[in-house]
Amino acid sequence: MPKIVLGVCGSIAAYRAADLARDLMRAGCEVRVCLTDSAQKFVTPILFETLTGNPCLIDTFDEPERGRMAHLDWARQADLLLIAPASANTINKLANGIGEDMLTTIALAFEGPMMLAPAMNPAMYQHPETQASLNNLVEHGATLIEPTEGDVVAGESGQGKLAGNAEIVGTALALLNRSNLLAGKRVLITSGPTQEPIDSVRFLSNRSSGKMGSALAQAALLMGAEVKVIAGPSMAIYPRNAHVIEVRTAEEMHKAALAELSSCDLAIGAAAVADYRPSNPQEGKIRRSDDAISLDLVPNPDIIAELAKSGKRTVGFAAEPSTDLTVAIAKIQRKGLYAIAHNDVSNRGIGFESDKNQITLIRADGVQETSPLASKLLVALWLLERIAE
Ligand code: CTP
Repeated sequence: MPKIVLGVCGSIAAYRAADLARDLMRAGCEVRVCLTDSAQKFVTPILFETLTGNPCLIDTFDEPERGRMAHLDWARQADLLLIAPASANTINKLANGIGEDMLTTIALAFEGPMMLAPAMNPAMYQHPETQASLNNLVEHGATLIEPTEGDVVAGESGQGKLAGNAEIVGTALALLNRSNLLAGKRVLITSGPTQEPIDSVRFLSNRSSGKMGSALAQAALLMGAEVKVIAGPSMAIYPRNAHVIEVRTAEEMHKAALAELSSCDLAIGAAAVADYRPSNPQEGKIRRSDDAISLDLVPNPDIIAELAKSGKRTVGFAAEPSTDLTVAIAKIQRKGLYAIAHNDVSNRGIGFESDKNQITLIRADGVQETSPLASKLLVALWLLERIAE
């Protein structure tokens, strides 16, 4: 049974750590909790001791078993150190090698994978010191689950909300059962929508959220790859150890993808590329009149088909409005792909804008397999394991 030390810091999101501990236990892990001093202002040790059946540590000199030096004992026994919620204070301490409470001391003594899921006020999150510390920790191998954007306490909003438990648990399990199938490989991912200008203020686009592309980037990194993402405009947050090239139009995405092709081993088209663009976008704003107007549209390049011509392993996504696989199968041949992931976007619980997904992977040799309905990260790991072989 994998052993996780769950570090809980002082944040309003500390209450969510109780559910997180339960979810990790349900997923088959043994959980031991270590609270910082400030976490105790929000939650109590007895809550976690009752939930986990294990002692909860706080002070550097806590000794549930005398003579064992708990910080070393816990660090030696743990398979994963997960800090959720991680506060700015603890993140900045960890990045500077400071061990002044039990949690930071365990972290110093721990040699396995560390995962951080921050939660804090958006200004504290964006503070240059916090960002520099996070970059430093990620550079040294920590896995970061970026906080999401939304309303936080004190009437503010921004990036600072603790990520969802499903994403945290999914990533923890991926780290524990890490497959290194993509070690040394370079993966190129197109992600998100494209925007095709009509005039200076309007564009044609689609509902792609970029979340699947972001999950694929995280999954490929967890499996040891170097990752480049060519990202159309969206609210998606990409892992900071992925190299992200931001583009707007399909033509820009096409150009960037071709430029990166020679330095990649595997290309995945998760972008919802606009198939057409206005042939003659107007400067300024098209003014209102009572007359009907029409847009002349010209086709955009088929990016994934262009990438596939290189002979590199190329995988597409087929966003289809039904469970019928016929069109997706035809796209494998038409685009010259190794495989395609069929995505039923008519099902509101999965696909566009949703946090969950379910895909049917169809390979060019005809082999088909359907993934579980799960978080986009787990589906991304499932997919990569099948196309990395
Ligand atoms: N794709 C691409 N460039 C395009 C259109 C699609 O790279 N101009 C890629 C997508 O990233 C995806 C795959 O092709 O990996 C299938 O996309 P999809 O929108 O399902 O298919 P289309 O080729 O656009 O065909 P249709 O709109 O008729 O379904």
